[in-house]
Amino acid sequence: MSSPAAHFGAGGDAPYDIALRNGGGTLRLVEIGEGSGRRVEIGRFLAAADAADDSVIARIRGPVLDVGCGPGRIVHAAILAGRLSLGVDVSRTAVEHARQRGLPALHRSVFEPLPQEGSWRALLLMDGNIGIGGAPHVLLERCAQIISTRGSIFVEVDPEPTTDRGYAATVVDEDGRSSSPFPWYDVGAAALRTRLKGSRLEITETWEVSGRAFVRVERRL
Ligand SMILES: C[S@@+](CC[C@H](N)C(=O)[O-])C[C@H]1O[C@@H](n2cnc3c(N)ncnc32)[C@H](O)[C@@H]1O
Repeated sequence: MSSPAAHFGAGGDAPYDIALRNGGGTLRLVEIGEGSGRRVEIGRFLAAADAADDSVIARIRGPVLDVGCGPGRIVHAAILAGRLSLGVDVSRTAVEHARQRGLPALHRSVFEPLPQEGSWRALLLMDGNIGIGGAPHVLLERCAQIISTRGSIFVEVDPEPTTDRGYAATVVDEDGRSSSPFPWYDVGAAALRTRLKGSRLEITETWEVSGRAFVRVERRL
């Protein structure tokens, strides 16, 4: 596995781990050298799936892999919906949290070998996880290796369709604790569609629920 310090919220004062252990809290995802950043509500990750999450789960057919599953709220909801599900996350604390709830979760990076590569019917990148690794096209190519030929990648995108920016980020908490820097990326639906031109993937569906935006990405026919 690559250095844990290069991942979302890891390293430094480990504010993400602390928030998960404390059962919630507001973190901020901050671009280094820029303003106050965007809120990340850990309580939402620890809560039950909401209507926007359910809109994704309702579209899933077959086994689903949740990449960057955190403490497992989507894995839980997908299992309740009758889907065979597995979560993957580089955060040991998040995976322990999921397992303590009886949920199947692997402590591993999406860029490492994963079970049943090439056969997952659905793969999820929720809660901004298209930012993982700081290069959406690289992440989506990796995800394309993991899904089956007819599989779908469900991506939560930035609500502003033209957003398209990569940056070095930190996660900070309300007490000033900060993670190590890590690469991250925000992208909206229109920008992602443009980025996928000329690749083997395309956006086949877009929708919004409660101010959150989602796209379905599939192999071109
Ligand atoms: C914005 S949080 C999303 C949390 C999550 N979707 C939930 O429901 O709690 C990003 C998550 O991605 C995980 N992550 C970051 N890099 C990863 C990687 N390379 N492979 C797998 N998970 C990763 C982080 O540890 C973190 O749990």
